[in-house]
Amino acid sequence: MSVGVTLSRHLREEEARHPDMTVELSTLLDQLGFASKILSREIGRAALVGQLGLIGETNPTGDPQKKLDVYGNQIMVEAFARTGLVAGIVSEELEEIKQVTGAESARYVLSIDPVDGSSNTDINGAIGTIFGVYRRTGGSLESDLLRKGSEQVLAGYVMYSTSTMLVYTCGHGVHGFTLDRDLGEFLLSHENIRCPARGKYYSANLGRYQDWEPNIRGCVDWLTQNDPATGRPYSLRYSGALVGDFHRCLLEGGFYFYPPDSSHKQGKLRLLYEAAPLGLIAREAGGRASTGRQDILDVQATDIHQRLPLVIGSAHEVGLYEQFLSRSAAVVT
Ligand code: F6P
Repeated sequence: MSVGVTLSRHLREEEARHPDMTVELSTLLDQLGFASKILSREIGRAALVGQLGLIGETNPTGDPQKKLDVYGNQIMVEAFARTGLVAGIVSEELEEIKQVTGAESARYVLSIDPVDGSSNTDINGAIGTIFGVYRRTGGSLESDLLRKGSEQVLAGYVMYSTSTMLVYTCGHGVHGFTLDRDLGEFLLSHENIRCPARGKYYSANLGRYQDWEPNIRGCVDWLTQNDPATGRPYSLRYSGALVGDFHRCLLEGGFYFYPPDSSHKQGKLRLLYEAAPLGLIAREAGGRASTGRQDILDVQATDIHQRLPLVIGSAHEVGLYEQFLSRSAAVVT
């Protein structure tokens, strides 16, 4: 029997191995892990303590806010107060950049979606927290945060499901930790995750199929045709929470996509706290993330709540989707 490796021990070892893994950066990740444990506890008992349901308001990008969205945001923001670790926070739940008091000289800024997939909160479905971290450049907080995803020094997510898992990258592999609820510790369970080069699943809100541009509909039609030689038909898996659907793609292969439609003309997902962090995880694990026309990690942020189309997962399927977008379905094999 072996004794597990805690997140803290793993981070100390990574600090010793990689000079760019600073003590501040690993402490920041430790703190995100700590806050997510509090959130995990609250999610687990939400039905018992009146934390399910809506609060009756919308967030800055127009989504109805759940009680857990608000709670998650409070926990994540409060977790960084008085730590001096991050100077500013962009959150899905906050209109403006949150300037962290007393952290003017902090070296990092954080973008976070505290509770992703919150439509799943009331049905005991998987939800998540997504985060990206940038090193400050010395300019304004806004310019520190309006960056390209490729500039993130840390990115990851926590998935609250049958177990709670934290997955992160600092550019030295993608590592996953499972929360041992009795010990209250994240233990290394998925070392050096590699995204399979291709998969057999696709993940999208097919209810919007009629609203998608013809090439995307063509891609879906192609995926659902019967041709065992090219691995078709692909199976559909869609949970309504990006973190859960991406996690499947990361571990088992396949892809997730959310194209523009008439309700989301720019796409639905947000660059800074959804697409860019998961894009870095995908790339570091050997997968890919794209708008369909441009690598997600090359997209320059121009607005903290910017939306964009996203296709993410195995390199083969992301490439396939891009091919469909750029030319006729007939030539894609
Ligand atoms: O806003 C993000 C999100 O909740 C994702 O987690 C999820 O994949 C998507 O939106 C769900 O959107 P829809 O309800 O349109 O399927």
